Amino acid sequence: MSDTPELTRRPEWTALKDHRAEAFREPSLRELFAADPGRAERLTVRVGDLLIDYSKHLVTDETLALLRELAVATDVFGLRDAMFRGERINVTERRAVLHTALRAAPDAVVEVDGRNVVPEVRAVLGRMADFAERVRSGAWTGHTGRRIRNVVNIGIGGSDLGPAMAYEALRAFTDRDMTVRFVSNVDGADLHEATRDLDPAETLFVVASKTFTTIETVTNATSARSWLLAGLGGDEKAVARHFVALSTNAQEVTAFGIDADNMFEFWDWVGGRYSFDSAIGLSLMIAIGPEAFGEMLEGFRVVDEHFRTAPAEANAPLVLGLLGIWYGNFFDAQTHAVLPYSHYLSKFTAYLQQLDMESNGKSVQRDGRPVDWQTGPVVWGTPGTNGQHAYYQLIHQGTKLIPADFVGFANPVGELGGELAAQHDLLMANFFAQTQALAFGRTPEEVRAEGVPEELIAHKTFRGNHPTTTVLAAGLTPSVLGQLVALYEHKVFVQGAVWNIDSFDQWGVELGKVLAKRVEPALTQGTDVPGLDPSTQALVTAYRTLRK
Ligand code: F6P
Repeated sequence: MSDTPELTRRPEWTALKDHRAEAFREPSLRELFAADPGRAERLTVRVGDLLIDYSKHLVTDETLALLRELAVATDVFGLRDAMFRGERINVTERRAVLHTALRAAPDAVVEVDGRNVVPEVRAVLGRMADFAERVRSGAWTGHTGRRIRNVVNIGIGGSDLGPAMAYEALRAFTDRDMTVRFVSNVDGADLHEATRDLDPAETLFVVASKTFTTIETVTNATSARSWLLAGLGGDEKAVARHFVALSTNAQEVTAFGIDADNMFEFWDWVGGRYSFDSAIGLSLMIAIGPEAFGEMLEGFRVVDEHFRTAPAEANAPLVLGLLGIWYGNFFDAQTHAVLPYSHYLSKFTAYLQQLDMESNGKSVQRDGRPVDWQTGPVVWGTPGTNGQHAYYQLIHQGTKLIPADFVGFANPVGELGGELAAQHDLLMANFFAQTQALAFGRTPEEVRAEGVPEELIAHKTFRGNHPTTTVLAAGLTPSVLGQLVALYEHKVFVQGAVWNIDSFDQWGVELGKVLAKRVEPALTQGTDVPGLDPSTQALVTAYRTLRK
């Protein structure tokens, strides 16, 4: 049993609680800005190419100082250093947490159990680059000698969301002559739709699975192999030219029938949701090329270095993590919206859902004691302007406090020209208008002054004081994407450290997997499943009656 005080009994926690009750009984961003002309400038931090304005938050300098004291008391930077040193901070799986080694400088030394892992990382990156170039140039051909024109990534969770999100984000940088698709769902419709118009002779399957035991992925990969063999005359030798694996598990890869030579390796110290800059990024690398992939890694590294070395006051992941704690733990905010103003970031929030919710959706501490404080929020959101015409109403005038991140860019992505490029200013006008409206609202007096009839004043009033962070960069490049992802990775880290939870395990997904295995025979063969609860039993019976 640990003798460190529980989080909520720490004096730093109590100080924040008191501060919330005293200084923020009736928060007013209008007043905070009016009283402090330097606020916008001071509460902006620049990291690499990112400008991060957090001045529209319900904080004062005192709030920020108190939050930093909490971070010191909970030893966030101590745990950060242990992570970068390769210590086994994933306590329940007894693993190091070293996604930062995946993008370390080539001459860096990062040791796991006394062995420098950077040369291995670079060696795999080199093999990936070589393979990606061969596919892109047509040197790598399929079984019938035809050039590969389609890449289908089969994976789920971290083996899908990261590469799929980054592929969308960097579409403008991809080889447009290639078709790249991502299949994750065990619903056969996913694979069907991804392959129905493809020629097997020109299709490469990239099977991405850290464990290579994930039922969805193995099932889809098996069906993909059947599809391929059916299309190529059944010669098993075709598999070697059309299947590669990204995994930590060479044994299972070989057992599946993929040649170990066609496997790109990574390591147990890379968590699935932190893995798209490892071999798991191969489909992305084929799409954007090794050079752009390297630029993305450099972007990650910029923010890693910042997180490792910047002082607390100017440490962006620390600040963003602490702001989340401020709302989640002291304002009872349950959710956090991430609203990108870029069509290319359409999968960014879905990616962050796994990153954040699988990492910090925990209710026991690192030593197994229950928490009696809120942990990770529900993360949600879609590209901004679409959201404006759907759910922003609730953010503006509903009863819930929803802190939100607005992510936008000063320039459209390079390819856009003419009228489409000009639309960018309209997009960004919305971006700026929304955070302004959320922060400052519209008072009844202002509404009245516009001549609005008295009975509509209340309806047209905006309370304001909805906190937002604005993240702005010149453009969405591979490097900027790496910077953005690393920013969120480390933000999630900071929150897990303060909450004293293991952000790197995911035991919560196991029970469903076990039960699915147990129920499946009842669906396929009608076998009795002992111990099935009456509700599920009745549903299974109904399913079998309906199943054709
Ligand atoms: O759903 C749990 C999980 O283990 C994720 O953490 C992981 O990203 C995903 O499944 C896929 O796992 P794998 O890469 O081993 O197939």
